Amino acid sequence: MAEQKATNVHWHHGEVTRDDRYKLLGHKGATLWFTGLSGSGKSTVAVALEQELTARGKLCYRLDGDNVRLGINKNLGFSAEDRKENIRRIGEVAKLFVDTGVIVLSSFISPYREDRDTVRVLHESAGMDFVEVFVDCALAEAEKRDPKGLYKKARAGEIKGFTGIDDPYEAPLKPEVHLHSDEMSLEQEVAVLLAELESRGVLDFTG
Ligand code: ADX
Repeated sequence: MAEQKATNVHWHHGEVTRDDRYKLLGHKGATLWFTGLSGSGKSTVAVALEQELTARGKLCYRLDGDNVRLGINKNLGFSAEDRKENIRRIGEVAKLFVDTGVIVLSSFISPYREDRDTVRVLHESAGMDFVEVFVDCALAEAEKRDPKGLYKKARAGEIKGFTGIDDPYEAPLKPEVHLHSDEMSLEQEVAVLLAELESRGVLDFTG
């Protein structure tokens, strides 16, 4: 847990509720938290799901590791401490989006179980849906894909502390959704995720 530094600060409540916003949109907010190795297919499935949800008239937004690291988290690197802060900030941002009514598709390696669990608690203690999606892919397959050429660099010693090579990845123990991206088609993955959102009643909200 990050330390609360500011003192004498209090939450200021408005007159418009979360349910008012959900009613406006006709669906609930929720976070789908994609976790997995670099190159496992997190962003690919998030992009496909984003298209499908948008086509169905559901408001969603992708929070993506690389994108966020070019903006709000540009001052963070890949040390354990920085990765923790990366996930903490995104967890808070995701929570704000969910409160707004957005379906958040968050794809970060998020290698540490403890950090993901902290984001889960942040959501669940506020009555928000948090769906951990393990994008499971064998390291050999992710390395074969190597879409950004980073595994090659890591093997050559040009990148230190690369997840899966010389930095750990702690797989989820009980993810809500377990996708095997090296065995399933993209369409199958999207179908599983839509079914999960439907079964939770995220996609329709009448109040
Ligand atoms: S996380 O570990 O803090 O969750 P995040 O998902 O934001 O990582 O960023 C991972 C992306 O940064 C990778 O897909 C890759 O493109 C790039 N990257 C650069 N250096 C590293 C590294 N040392 N380990 C993992 N990914 C790295």
